[in-house]
Amino acid sequence: MRLRMDRRAFVEGSVRLGTLALVGCRVTMHDGAGLKDSAAVASPSVRRSLTSSAAEDDVELYKKAVALLKASGVWQAQATLHSNFCTHGNWFFLPWHRFYLMYFEEVCRHALRQAGESDTFSLPYWNWPDTGRKIPGIFWGDGNPLFNSSRSMGPNDTYADAACGDGTLDSIRLINNFLDFGGGRAGAQQEWGGSGQLEGTPHNTIHAATGGDMGALASPLDPIFWLHHANVDRLWATWQASNPHMIPSYPNAQDSTAQSRQGMLLDGNFWLNFALDGFEDINGKRFTKKVKDCLDPARMAKPYIYDTLVPKNDHREGSPAPDGTHEPYSLLGNVAPKPSLGLSGSGTAKGVLRDLVYVELKDQGLVIKVDQTNKIISANINLSPAIRHYITRLSDKPSYTGSLTLLVEKIPIPTDDLVHRIALDFYANHPNLTTETDASDPQFLSSYSFFAHTHPGAPHTVSIRIALNQPFLRMRAAKVEPKKALLLQILVKDRLLQTLPNLDFFSSLHFRLCYIET
Ligand code: C2O
Repeated sequence: MRLRMDRRAFVEGSVRLGTLALVGCRVTMHDGAGLKDSAAVASPSVRRSLTSSAAEDDVELYKKAVALLKASGVWQAQATLHSNFCTHGNWFFLPWHRFYLMYFEEVCRHALRQAGESDTFSLPYWNWPDTGRKIPGIFWGDGNPLFNSSRSMGPNDTYADAACGDGTLDSIRLINNFLDFGGGRAGAQQEWGGSGQLEGTPHNTIHAATGGDMGALASPLDPIFWLHHANVDRLWATWQASNPHMIPSYPNAQDSTAQSRQGMLLDGNFWLNFALDGFEDINGKRFTKKVKDCLDPARMAKPYIYDTLVPKNDHREGSPAPDGTHEPYSLLGNVAPKPSLGLSGSGTAKGVLRDLVYVELKDQGLVIKVDQTNKIISANINLSPAIRHYITRLSDKPSYTGSLTLLVEKIPIPTDDLVHRIALDFYANHPNLTTETDASDPQFLSSYSFFAHTHPGAPHTVSIRIALNQPFLRMRAAKVEPKKALLLQILVKDRLLQTLPNLDFFSSLHFRLCYIET
């Protein structure tokens, strides 16, 4: 294994040079050895889009498996596992659900085998734009095992473009750091660390808007859950293929999210070696799995790949061919070397960890305004010269590794009657924002829906991460890029189009803006 890093100029906005801990780390692993699960590599199964004709057999087998599992009680047991152990709002969200799905697929195969059916089943995935952002037709119809009568959406209702349209999925795919993409640091499986955008935007919205079972922790009771999550997992795999050596970065000393409540350093090593709990084999025996053992689906205990990994419009260099036949991502192997913190010196040398640039604007007496009439919560953030400098450097060249991130913290979780109804749509410097404004405007940043904040002991607020590189590049192209101040606007949208109550409770939000270069 070789660690490849180099050092860059170090600049820090509030004139505090010399904070030399690490925020970014890319690891290259050449030998691929040591992956506990690699014995079964032989022939990965292929998960296909439910809209492709090649998936017809799998859809039929899925229907049969769901009927069998419902009859045997295993269906309910799988949902209970989720209620008890599911992991949301932190950097374990993607790994936990990857394992959960892989074992569920095995549970389906087992049930099919026992019933004398073909067990060549692979879980299909539901790519939301491919069905016009509607629940696919195969999930409707009384008596259909794939139907769930608790949904609040009907067959003709659509999910918001802002949440799962192609434009949104594209900018999420282009996020260039794991924390913004996959979730913020946390020291425990169910500790809130900040939702990444794949989770907070399309994932949460589909749950919340579908409603019924899907809107709550027992969501795997709705058969659509599993195909929804297969797509989330596919988008992670896609992202991994474009960022093949990226793991969650090593924290900068200024990063207040880098220490767990128990005082542990939440670095890449911690993440890789964290044992996730709550998986069961076909005999119902429970076990834990380490994050590092799910990073390459093609090398997991029950290996799989996706039919299509990278959208055809991926313009970046070095992306694998979109045919699913590519060499499965040779990811990290299983150990990231421990960074030597406090490193200094200059020059670029192999084996030397990079310094990073990190600017953080703590809530500097920000005034948060709540416009009740237009349902807009806004705050004007002055952009320091340092941040302005980084904004001018933003680029979508593959070699560019800086990221500008907005952390929105202490978002109060609305009351039960409201929590599934509203979406928070984030805009910047929009001159005439109204409830009609949508994601097609260049000033659109991101959208967030609430989901899975109800574990016992969960906090009363959530925090989210919004990657700003892509939105700022879009604004630059449209010549509406914020220059001196970022007017952050949160449009509160009601999916039911009813009258929203007083929104003053949102005025306790916190914002942080950070720039990290790895
Ligand atoms: Cu653990 Cu989409 O849910």
